[in-house]
Amino acid sequence: MLDNEFIPHNPLLQQAHFLINISEELFYGGAAGGGKSDALLMAALQYVEEKFIPEDQDKMTYDALILRRTLDDLEMPNAILDRAKQWLLPFEDSGDVYYKDLKKKFTFSSGATLTFRYLAHNNDLDKYQGAELQYVGFDEVTQFPENQYLYLHSRLRQTEDNVFPIRMRCASNPGGRGHEWVKKRFVKNDSPYPFIPSNLWDNIHLDHDKYTARLSKMDALTKQRLLNGDWDLAMTSGLLIDRNRLEQNLRPITENCLPVFSTIGIDPAGEGQDRFAMSNLTFFTNQKLMLTDLASTVKGQHANGVLRNFILRNQRFNPVVINFEKEPGSDSDRALDYWKQILGDIIPENNIINTAASTTGNKYMRAQPHALAVHENRLFFNQDLMNQTAGDYIPLNSLFNQYVYVNPSRDEMKKYSSPDELDSLGYAFIAMEDLLKGQTTMTVGTRIGGA
Ligand SMILES: Nc1ncnc2c1ncn2[C@@H]1O[C@H](COP(=O)(O)OP(=O)(O)OP(=O)(O)O)[C@@H](O)[C@H]1O
Ligand SMILES: [Mg+2]
Repeated sequence: MLDNEFIPHNPLLQQAHFLINISEELFYGGAAGGGKSDALLMAALQYVEEKFIPEDQDKMTYDALILRRTLDDLEMPNAILDRAKQWLLPFEDSGDVYYKDLKKKFTFSSGATLTFRYLAHNNDLDKYQGAELQYVGFDEVTQFPENQYLYLHSRLRQTEDNVFPIRMRCASNPGGRGHEWVKKRFVKNDSPYPFIPSNLWDNIHLDHDKYTARLSKMDALTKQRLLNGDWDLAMTSGLLIDRNRLEQNLRPITENCLPVFSTIGIDPAGEGQDRFAMSNLTFFTNQKLMLTDLASTVKGQHANGVLRNFILRNQRFNPVVINFEKEPGSDSDRALDYWKQILGDIIPENNIINTAASTTGNKYMRAQPHALAVHENRLFFNQDLMNQTAGDYIPLNSLFNQYVYVNPSRDEMKKYSSPDELDSLGYAFIAMEDLLKGQTTMTVGTRIGGA
């Protein structure tokens, strides 16, 4: 590696760990600026020199591919393609490298190639149908859905006369739409594939003051993720409420106060989305509120069964209202009719309502009233929910994260997954406040399900 003339940088310690690891799959993840993209590029160039041409051949088969999610990502100054150009274009004059810009492909005199592409849509995968690659690198892999990663993995080929290890390499900061699958595959203790943590302070070539100053302009959560590369609960302090404050209100459901009634809030999954979140918010005889149950569907799970089961298992709290989010347009009315039909036997039809997501307020403003209720010790969370999972995540944990990252800026919100659990609690809360203020005609205390 140190003698490879195409690689102008000497690896840092963590980069060296990344480069000498021979596992088929490997992830370099964590803090921003740790040298991840550099390492991906170094790894791609690890075997492109002529010295690797087998004795009985005049050229070698080593094809490497590096992916970014969009064309813009790929073409950004000092992003990975730009860096490859800085490193490799000086070798064009000597004929050691030939670069074709249209294909974003570098061909080396050894016969090896390195191509850069973006993969914005699943349709883009078709281009790789017949491809046979020895190295695939995903930069900012949490921007990709898992299926794209797995598909490209299936394009790795080790032919008989090929001496090179086949390698799937990826790098990323925490966060982004693929945060959960990447964490599960590489970062957790029981993850099947290895992971090299990236640390900002490893990178002695970085102007740390400048870098941290730039990060300091970001919101608390993103800042912590980028600075510390934290894959777990990097979300500690938010604009609305801190993680600590939420945890203080975790309580068991005690026998000494009784449930009076509850409201159920639903954030239905939109087109193409997989999460359908539901909250059961209970009013107790001590005049306090508790989120007694929280659930969400996982990919491929039909909401009907899950919601029915949710309502039935919460009968002991006496749910009297179920409040669905109302989206603009008439589809929402049709959806409500549908749910009335589906659930009419377990909750009175009139008590199935829908509240429009206010068009003026944003998600941040809508979460304010119940965050305030937490601050005022009127709203608590059933601590048993911390053990309740949906697929590989814990909905209550997602809810707490959402409380912390919810932000009035739309651009900020785009960085995170949609706060479905928070919204569902919001709808339960609105229905509850209406009931408590007596602003509703609904019959409180109606026993449902024939109980
Ligand atoms: N071994 C090295 N020798 C010299 N410079 C390096 C080395 N590794 C990284 N750098 C430089 O440090 C800077 C940050 O590295 P890089 O962009 O690879 O980090 P990153 O972890 O991918 O960051 P981000 O999270 O922002 O994508 C770049 O300018 C890069 O060229
Ligand atoms: Mg990078």
